[in-house]
Amino acid sequence: MIYSIDEDLKEYHLDRVCIGRHRVNHCYFDLRRRSPIVGPRSPESGTPTNVEENESVLVVLLADSGRRTVIPTVNQHCSMVPNRRHHEVFPAKRASILDMRLRWFLYRPDRLAEKYMKPGDRVLDFGCGPGFFTREFARRVGENGQVCAVDLQAAMLAILRGNLEPEGLMTRIRLHQCRPDAIDLPPEMNGTFDAAFAMFVVHEVPDPAKLFQEIARLLKPGGTLYCAEPVIVSGEEFQEYVARAGEAGFRQIDRSFYFVNRAVVMKKR
Ligand SMILES: C[S@@+](CC[C@H](N)C(=O)[O-])C[C@H]1O[C@@H](n2cnc3c(N)ncnc32)[C@H](O)[C@@H]1O
Repeated sequence: MIYSIDEDLKEYHLDRVCIGRHRVNHCYFDLRRRSPIVGPRSPESGTPTNVEENESVLVVLLADSGRRTVIPTVNQHCSMVPNRRHHEVFPAKRASILDMRLRWFLYRPDRLAEKYMKPGDRVLDFGCGPGFFTREFARRVGENGQVCAVDLQAAMLAILRGNLEPEGLMTRIRLHQCRPDAIDLPPEMNGTFDAAFAMFVVHEVPDPAKLFQEIARLLKPGGTLYCAEPVIVSGEEFQEYVARAGEAGFRQIDRSFYFVNRAVVMKKR
């Protein structure tokens, strides 16, 4: 499948990459390799002849700045493409994979909880899925704390409830179904969270910059944001996320690998 984007993209030309003075009106990106595709084009269709038409190709119409042709970065294009492949929402029908015991040994959510929260804390688990991290967060914050578990999919929240109710943890957990483009918690919850976690979810969110702004509003000053992304997210894209979080008012305090995945710890200024 080839995705196309219309010229409205002009308004998103924030971070530009010059590709010389040649006047072209469209360009091709390989979404998997996250790089422009250069090389010969078919004289009939204009598509690159060195790639197969497949799901990883994005066609981008370029706008002319007047002086030379510019293209926004690949990442910006990706954030404009509603169906970009590696940004698909993790389906609820595969939720059991997220709650596998093996994952517990790889990620040790109990240690994460011990390090970044204390009993009585209020914690946001954004993109909670079936509750793999929520469970340990709820155990850690105890009876006097609360975990707000937020997910786009009602089915994920139902699975979480089914998993954690028998463990007696639901008294500490508030479930919230959000919209794809907004967390939308009530304004009285702004500035009330001690810590927020976005575990393997930011790449599925259509507007990460907006997400980080919302999380910043929900956290107390000095509150912690822990964000981990899977290996399908390139270092470049991860760096983009960290930059957007910085713009939203976070400062980085630690950066590491979380098993084989990238992770960053930030504090709200
Ligand atoms: C890969 S799963 C990770 C779940 C959990 N954090 C974990 O690591 O076990 C991503 C989750 O984020 C949710 N999600 C995707 N896009 C979202 C959005 N825009 N807002 C809130 N949740 C979203 C999905 O429904 C899914 O449950």
